Amino acid sequence: MNRIYNKLNKCLMSLREKTNFKPEIALILGSGLGDYADGICVEKVVEYADIEDFPVSTVSGHKGRFVFGFIDGVPAVVMQGRVHFYEGYEMSDVVLPTRLMGMMGAKKLILTNAAGGVNPNFKSGDFMMITDHIAVGVPNPLIGGNLDELGVRFPDMSEVYSRRMQGIIKSEAQKLGLDIREGVYVQLTGPSYETPAEVRMIRTLGGDAVGMSTACEAIAAKHMGMEICGISCITNMAAGISAGELNHSEVQETADRVAEQFKRLITAIAVRI
Ligand code: HPA
Repeated sequence: MNRIYNKLNKCLMSLREKTNFKPEIALILGSGLGDYADGICVEKVVEYADIEDFPVSTVSGHKGRFVFGFIDGVPAVVMQGRVHFYEGYEMSDVVLPTRLMGMMGAKKLILTNAAGGVNPNFKSGDFMMITDHIAVGVPNPLIGGNLDELGVRFPDMSEVYSRRMQGIIKSEAQKLGLDIREGVYVQLTGPSYETPAEVRMIRTLGGDAVGMSTACEAIAAKHMGMEICGISCITNMAAGISAGELNHSEVQETADRVAEQFKRLITAIAVRI
């Protein structure tokens, strides 16, 4: 059996020993947005460290656990803390948790992240619905022997972010009185923030927001047939657009400031998708 598929199955078995919960939707929480999981009706919490062979995250502000529970009655698995490529993991490990949630039964995936605003019309604290992505310098998570059990060798990527779900996000945001932005998310490896020249490059490429996650997870999820949507929290304007220096505490502070709005939006989306 393929090494990566073998590892996935081992993790799945280890997780299944702890819970038989069958999620319908999967939610990945980005930097500073992890508190969301505390508000759901929790059935079971599984620490990543307790899953055999599971890659464990190291960034402060990222808790490492799966929370299984109900979001307004909808069975969900929430990833509180993700694994980033810049931590030094192989790309197949970075997307392992996403695949695992799909293998547990989740057919729908809500991706969230903290991102730098590249579109000059954005401001810190905005939400951006992801309409598409570009991965720059990030290895494709499907490189290597294809996992035929999960999907095809050359999966179509013409609609990674479901138009159906985008419609729901827009209408729910409107009902909540949120002026949601939309645009293209660009993933770079990080962990350094971008230079102003890189930010100009991203804008030239057609990017609206930049971050260090998400696109790879979306590719892996699309490969296995999940329906995907994504929301970025613009925690800061990207380097060269904003006046000062960037730092992680600014990202955290903005995420905290908009956490309540974010929770309301995610809950409204989760029950409708
Ligand atoms: N760049 C990359 N990743 C980020 C940023 C940024 O400006 N803000 C939050 N995550």
